[in-house]
Amino acid sequence: MTDGLAVFGDFAPDGRGAYDHAIARFRENNIVLPTFAQLRDPSTIPEAIVNSLDGLDKNAADPRNLFRVHWHNGLDASTGFNDVPDHIELPSELTGVDARIVLAFGNRFPMIGAHKVLAAYSCLVARLVTGRFDPTVSRAIWPSTGNYARGGIAISKIMGCRGVAILPEGMSRERFEWLDRWVDHPDDVIRTPGTEANVKEIYEECMRLEVDPTNVILNQFSEFSNHMGHYAVTGRAMERVFEHVTTGPDARPGNLAAFVSASGSAGTLGAGDYLKDSHGARIVAVEALEVPTMLYNGFGDHNIQGIGDKHIPLIHNVTNTDMVVGISDKSTDELDVLFNTPAGLRLLEDRGIDPALGSMLTHMGYSSICNTLAAITAAKKWGLGSDDVIMSVATDGSELYNSEREKVMSSHFSGGFDDREAAQVFDEHLGDVQTTHAIEMGPVERDRVFNLGYFTWVEQLGVEIDDFESRRDQSFWAGLRPLVAKWDGMIEEFNDATGASHG
Ligand SMILES: Cc1ncc(COP(=O)(O)O)c(C=O)c1O
Repeated sequence: MTDGLAVFGDFAPDGRGAYDHAIARFRENNIVLPTFAQLRDPSTIPEAIVNSLDGLDKNAADPRNLFRVHWHNGLDASTGFNDVPDHIELPSELTGVDARIVLAFGNRFPMIGAHKVLAAYSCLVARLVTGRFDPTVSRAIWPSTGNYARGGIAISKIMGCRGVAILPEGMSRERFEWLDRWVDHPDDVIRTPGTEANVKEIYEECMRLEVDPTNVILNQFSEFSNHMGHYAVTGRAMERVFEHVTTGPDARPGNLAAFVSASGSAGTLGAGDYLKDSHGARIVAVEALEVPTMLYNGFGDHNIQGIGDKHIPLIHNVTNTDMVVGISDKSTDELDVLFNTPAGLRLLEDRGIDPALGSMLTHMGYSSICNTLAAITAAKKWGLGSDDVIMSVATDGSELYNSEREKVMSSHFSGGFDDREAAQVFDEHLGDVQTTHAIEMGPVERDRVFNLGYFTWVEQLGVEIDDFESRRDQSFWAGLRPLVAKWDGMIEEFNDATGASHG
């Protein structure tokens, strides 16, 4: 395994001091770390720990909530675990295609109401148990365009570590309000210039902070633990949902045709790698049409918050990607209004969509709507039918975009949003989804997108060319797979050493 990439297969050569300090801190604060196996399958979490969650608000800053960093929570604050992750199967009256499109709801995740808290846990825990993070002196720096930074702050805080969020000043008001409530020092939220696609400015801030060795940058775009956490935990969660919708008592059989995910850090796409390994599913990577980096080497700005950061993440397994789709933020902005207004819900009912299902669409934030549109596009492009199931994620819910919706209402629908506007929005964005901005990834396309990453990672950020290149071959990614079990062993040893327990 390459040493130069943030893979963390082995204990850090100089990690003993940091590790011992971490043990002492976790013992003192009585913090138990969940294994990835437990997050994959929460029914394996010891009963004493499950009981200790009884009545505990899943959004509280309490270390026991680490055992809720998975897909099996309900919507309620003191939820128990569901066998099958909450999800929605979209009817063809909405999608216009026969293929079955199923999304798992990420807003059930604790503390931040988005699945990025899992990515944050994966990145910090891999460092902690390999002696790469000393919670008594280090500050965990979480660069992101929003949810990962919030996840990082939540995870740092409940692990008794100091965390710093770096994110563009143009992200949604809800994200900043949340951060203000969670950080202990106001200077632990760093606002960089720009909006969603301004990742360069975030990196510049990281470089400034990195000069101080106590600042540990947990870069979601290059920490392979992000990919691995999603491979192991999100991949299995998608599979559970798929099994449920195809093999349960009232289920209709089907095959897992594809996994669709908009790419921010490309961590979630790791679930696609899992589903390809286990079910032969094809992988669809999605981006904003206004910033079509993978499609057209393009640039610009967009409002599908959390995705499309104008570069190719180092942890994106590009040569395993089967299709790239671009979705316009006009569609996501306007469909969010449709899904969250009385006129919109009336229209959906008129178009034959069960109102109970229509009301569940509020659990889909911008990138979730984007995933839905991309799944429709992929279904059309590949000619998928009613036996085919496309799995995807609703990373967060619309509740994070109420302030954005107000802006869209005034800029797109200044005359009001009523039946006529609702019908127009439905017809324009769902009536006849086009496949114009979708590319099937053959060897040439894969190499083209892969090579684009060179400029960020090798030229600008100093990754060794051999390390960069090693990722072109699937053997590199296959070599990562055993790491999760290895980390689990280290997590168990760590817990034994702290002696902490929630029993
Ligand atoms: C709302 C939202 N959707 C999608 C993504 C993309 O997920 P990933 O970074 O795993 O590619 C993010 C990432 O922050 C996000 O916040």
